[in-house]
Amino acid sequence: MHILLMGPPGAGKGTQAERLVDEYKIPHISTGDMFRAAVKQGTELGKEAKKYMDAGGLVPDVVTIGIVREGLSKPECKKGFILDGFPRTTEQAEALDDILKDAGIKLTAVVNIEVPDSDLVDRVTGRRICKSCGATYHVTFNPPKVEGVCDKCGGSLYQRDDDKEATVKNRLKAYHSQTEPLIDYYKKQGVYMEIDGTQAIDKVYADVKAGLEERAGR
Ligand code: AP5
Ligand code: MG
Ligand code: ZN
Repeated sequence: MHILLMGPPGAGKGTQAERLVDEYKIPHISTGDMFRAAVKQGTELGKEAKKYMDAGGLVPDVVTIGIVREGLSKPECKKGFILDGFPRTTEQAEALDDILKDAGIKLTAVVNIEVPDSDLVDRVTGRRICKSCGATYHVTFNPPKVEGVCDKCGGSLYQRDDDKEATVKNRLKAYHSQTEPLIDYYKKQGVYMEIDGTQAIDKVYADVKAGLEERAGR
């Protein structure tokens, strides 16, 4: 399975990716997670990316395409991958086409998780993430058993720096102007699939899985 997960900020890409990783045992490549790891480590990449992330804008294409090319060059990606949050611009999508062509890989599907803007601010501002294992929770929609503590590993939960209401609004603007046009791009390639992301997390996952397996001919 070579899966691309698309959708606005807070649509549930990371949440669904966690389940897909458990099911298909393929790597999860999230550009947002890679940038956050670089910020935490204090690398040059992290310092550069942080400027854009804190403002809710996109990190420049040349930087982003570089880290994805490196991520996809790992041998385990031949078997499959879940790309989450990349591509986000036409330039990134064209670069990805080239990378996949060189590697002889065809996308199984581009899964777009659709959620209206009116739901997304609450989803993003209520999100909490485990410091140790990265699992995602929501204070109302997907709370941990014990407040502030990860169910899976006991780690403590934190809020992302860019999950403030004002930043989320900028992220939504960036999505609509720069990323949404990719829907047509992938429709033309015949790999596009749309999922109603307003449903409960389990139902969204059931739809994603059913759609993928149909496309993969299983
Ligand atoms: P990134 O980390 O990718 O953020 P994003 O796209 O804004 O998406 P999120 O991670 O916020 O949302 P998600 O869809 O993963 O939702 P989640 O599953 O967590 O990128 C961050 C920044 O990095 C960007 O702004 C940019 O600066 C930079 N960047 C990254 N990639 C880039 C690229 N390619 N080019 C340039 N710059 C790039 O769910 C959200 C919440 O909702 C959680 O609390 C969850 O529990 C809850 N939830 C999930 N599903 C449901 C449901 N069905 N019902 C109710 N609640 C739900
Ligand atoms: Mg995410
Ligand atoms: Zn954890």
